[in-house]
Parts: sequence; C-alpha cells; structure tokens
Amino acid sequence: MTVYVVQISDLHLFAKPHHRLLGVDTEASFLQVQKAIAALDPLPDLLLLTGDLSQDGSAASYARLRAHLQTLPIDTYWLAGNHDRLHTMNQELHAERLFGDKSFSRENWSFILLNSLVPGKDSGYLTERTLLWLKQELQRSKAAQHHVLLALHHPPFSVDSAWLDQSALQQPERLFGVLDEFDHIRLVVFGHIHQDLHRRREGVDYLACPSTCVQFRPKSPQFGLEVIPPALRQIWLERDGSFKTQVQRVGAALQRPNLALKGY
Ligand SMILES: [Fe+2]
Repeated sequence: MTVYVVQISDLHLFAKPHHRLLGVDTEASFLQVQKAIAALDPLPDLLLLTGDLSQDGSAASYARLRAHLQTLPIDTYWLAGNHDRLHTMNQELHAERLFGDKSFSRENWSFILLNSLVPGKDSGYLTERTLLWLKQELQRSKAAQHHVLLALHHPPFSVDSAWLDQSALQQPERLFGVLDEFDHIRLVVFGHIHQDLHRRREGVDYLACPSTCVQFRPKSPQFGLEVIPPALRQIWLERDGSFKTQVQRVGAALQRPNLALKGY
C-alpha cells in the first residue's frame, strides 16, 4: 500500500492572531493551506510539519495551531525549527491525532524526525546524542527491512543563497557520516529555506518544502522575497522504496510581502 504524506513547513504563527510577518498574515495564509489539505481526496495518511511553526515561540501560537490541526482528521507529526521553543511545543502540541513522537512507521516505511534546533541561533546543529539516536533508529529500521524518510528543519548543504547558507545545518558531514553507513534511506525532507528544492546525494533525494506564508527568492545572495503562493508538498511512498512527489501551490499570495518590513 502507498503511504501518502503531506509536508508543510515554516508557518511562523504569532501569539496574536493575524499578526503580520513582512506584511503577510501568516495565520490566514496557513489556514488557506490547511483548507487545501482538508479538500484533498483522498486525505493523506499523515501530515508532517517541519519546523518554524511559530515565529515567536509563544504558547498561544502553538495552542491555536493545535486547535486548527484538530479540525483535520489526519495523523500529524512535527519537529522544531530555529524560531520554535521545543519545551513549549512539547507542552502544547499534543492532541488526539497530534503526536510528539520522533520515530514511527507506516507500512514498510520508517519515519525519523531530527531536532536541529539550537536555542538562540538561526543555524542548525545535531548533537552527538541526536546522531547516536539516529544511528540506533537506522539500525532498527534496517533490521525491520523498512525504507526510511528522514526529516529535519535545516538544509544539510548550501542552497546557493549566501544569506540562507549562513543558517544551514552546521557541520553536515557529521550527519552524512551516519547516513552513508546505510543504504535504506530514500529521502530527506526539510524546510527553513521557504522554497522548493530537490537535490540528490549518494542515492538519497533531498527535498525542501516552501513555506505556508512568505516565499524566499531562490539563489539570492541577500534576503529576497518572491510573490508566489504558499504551498504544500505531497509525497507518495511506495512499497518498493520509490516515491513520487509534487509541490502544490495554494491559491494566491495573500498579500504582497514587504521587504522594507524587516523582522524575519
Ligand atoms: Fe527556519
């Protein structure tokens, strides 16, 4: 059976509803994406949120996200981004179909969600403890003859955008050192860069998801925005380890983002 996954990322919700990031009402933009997910037929088997769910890390922003997600009859998993507060997420982001688990499986696929958040920093880093846990999870999924989808917030390489590259995953070779020991990892999904991206490395596909709010301009040396709609990523995981994926843009860009409004 195919496992149908939808990934969304970088919601940047605020404590106050309808607060704006660079001129964009992030909650209204997210709700537009959520509506598109609710209209998918069939509904996905699971929803994956890859970080920066809140802009200010407030309990109120996570509580409202939880309430919004509870309107979707879809099992939902999440991980933290650089703008998030993990402790607060762990307190707020639990509900009937909303799970804090970082390792789970569906059919013959294992899902491993990594925490690359370093409090107070925009860039990401994986601790020794996280890498050790990753290795154990990979050994376990290998023994179960599963394929693996790995998720984290930060891109583990340059995306040819100097300003974004400064906040990529630091020392990614430590991650690759673990991944290269295994041959059953099929794809790695991430967020943070607010744009669609596909790379291939050592037989593994790396996919970025656009944001549910503002979109960054690809390959821009400095901070730059694009006026294109928010998006979700659909991924269909097959029993033989292959997959199909597409980015679906949702509606129109709600507002023209305003570069003059600093604050990302
Ligand atoms: Fe981020």
